[in-house]
Amino acid sequence: MTGANKSLGERPHKFTVPDLLLRKQQQQKIVALTAYDYSAARLADRAGVDIVLVGDTLGIMSLGYSTTIPVTMEEMLHHVKACRRGVHSALLVADMPFGSYQASVEDAIRNAAQLMKEGGAQAVKIEGGSEIAATVHRMTQVGIPVMGHIGLQPQSVNAYGGNKAQGRDTESANQLLKDAIILQKEGAFSIVLEAIPADLSSEISSCLNIPTIGIGAGPECDGQVQVWHDILGIYPGKRYRHVKQYVDLGEQIDVAIRSYSDEVRGKSFPTKEHSL
Ligand code: KIV
Repeated sequence: MTGANKSLGERPHKFTVPDLLLRKQQQQKIVALTAYDYSAARLADRAGVDIVLVGDTLGIMSLGYSTTIPVTMEEMLHHVKACRRGVHSALLVADMPFGSYQASVEDAIRNAAQLMKEGGAQAVKIEGGSEIAATVHRMTQVGIPVMGHIGLQPQSVNAYGGNKAQGRDTESANQLLKDAIILQKEGAFSIVLEAIPADLSSEISSCLNIPTIGIGAGPECDGQVQVWHDILGIYPGKRYRHVKQYVDLGEQIDVAIRSYSDEVRGKSFPTKEHSL
C-alpha cells in the first residue's frame, strides 16, 4: 500500500474475490452472514466469517419494512459505510436495492460504483437470471465483482404473490440451472441460491466453477448465508424453516432490559460504582 492510499484511510482487504474461488477449488465451505451496522459487522468479522453481506434484508430486520422493496440506495449506502468500518478481514458484499439496477446497465454501474467508492463494498449482489445477463456482463467488464442471486428473489415478492420456494417443477428447475450457467458465463464470481430444493442446488453447484452460497437450499452448496437477526434470535417476526437459531438473544435482551428498568425504578441503579 502506498503512503497516498494509507492517508485515504484504506486498509488491505484480507479476504478477496479470488480467495473465494479458491475455496471452491479446495472444497472448503464458505461462511457468509448478514450485518447492517458497525457493531454487528465487527463481531461477525472478529468471529471469522468469510463474507459479511449487507443484505437488503436491512429493510426488514433494521428498518421495519415488511419487504425489501422500499429499501433505497441512500439507506443501503448508510449501512454499508457503517459495516465497512467494522469489517477488517472478511469480504464485504453490498446488496443493490430494488430499482437500482433493473432499469439500465448505466444505473447498475453508477449505483454499484457508489456502493464501492463511497460505501467501501468489495462486491455487489443483484437478483435475477438470464434477464440480467447483459448487466452482469458489463458490470464485471468494468471491474465490479458481481454476486448473483437466483431461486427465491425477495425483490420479486409482488410478482410471486408472496415469498415462495422456487425450482420445484422440472421447467423452473431447468430454468434455474440455465440461469446459473449464464450468470457464471457473464462473469458473476458467486451465486446465492435461495429456497430451492437441495437436489437442484447440488446439481447447480456441481455444474459451476464459481461457488454457490445457499440459504434454504440444502447442504451441498459451496457455502451458506444466514441473516444476523435470525441466527441470534433477535427478530421479533416470523421464523422461516431454513433458519437455525443458535442463541435466543431476544429473550436475554428482554431479561436485561427488564432488570435495568426494575433497578432504575427501585432506585438500586446507579450506585456509587456507576457515578463520577
Ligand atoms: O438480503 C439478504 O440478506 C440476502 C440474503 C438472505 C441472501 O439477500
